[in-house]
Amino acid sequence: MKRRQQQALQIAIDGPAGAGKSTIAKIAAKQLGLFYVDTGAMYRVITYKALKNRAPIDDESMVSQIAKSTEVVFDHSDKRIVWCDGEDVTQEIRCPEVSRAVSVVAAYPGVRERLVELQRMEAERGGVVMDGRDIGTYVLPEADFKIFLTATPEERARRRWMELQKSGKDVTYQEVAIDMAERDRLDTERVVSPLKPAKDAIILDTTGLCIEELVSRILALVQGG
Ligand code: CDP
Repeated sequence: MKRRQQQALQIAIDGPAGAGKSTIAKIAAKQLGLFYVDTGAMYRVITYKALKNRAPIDDESMVSQIAKSTEVVFDHSDKRIVWCDGEDVTQEIRCPEVSRAVSVVAAYPGVRERLVELQRMEAERGGVVMDGRDIGTYVLPEADFKIFLTATPEERARRRWMELQKSGKDVTYQEVAIDMAERDRLDTERVVSPLKPAKDAIILDTTGLCIEELVSRILALVQGG
């Protein structure tokens, strides 16, 4: 496939929770002058709104209806604000209640259909680094680079636990590890666009690697390729 021009470049970064996708994607996007699109945040917004409206999370048709009628907007400045129907929900979408319910919501075809449409629209605005679970396999199958990040479950849970501690959330390592394992299971086993590397993805195990090292590997790949 012919590689796109820099300003229209598409870089897909997929992988399970805590593999380092968003940290790496954010830095790489900035250094390459591309938009960063956090697709997980979109699934979190719909989950947040369903919980806020007290919709039963296992009611597929009601949750899909919410997805269709919700306006999700990303601010591409450094503040990275996420808006849900005009409300700033940047912090709220990271709470444990949303994390616990999001994989159920993300398995609904109606929710995915609507959010994939938004994700592809974001990619049409210009070059993107997009992270998620199905970017290389489904959202941007023609991406110029596909990277699948992994790490051991222990390291992923430890990273996420440390992140939550830093932001003042009172959760134990054990709770984080259990929630994450369940989310991985749901994401991997779902029928529509399950979490898996694309056939042409480069798989990178991030266990024991520091952020700088990972970013420089990815930049070398993109700039050298
Ligand atoms: O940041 P973290 O890895 O915890 O998760 P996230 O990227 O915020 O994604 C939250 C959830 O959204 C995932 O566990 C998936 O259930 C879902 N998701 C998805 O199904 N497809 C995507 N492209 C992105 C996220």
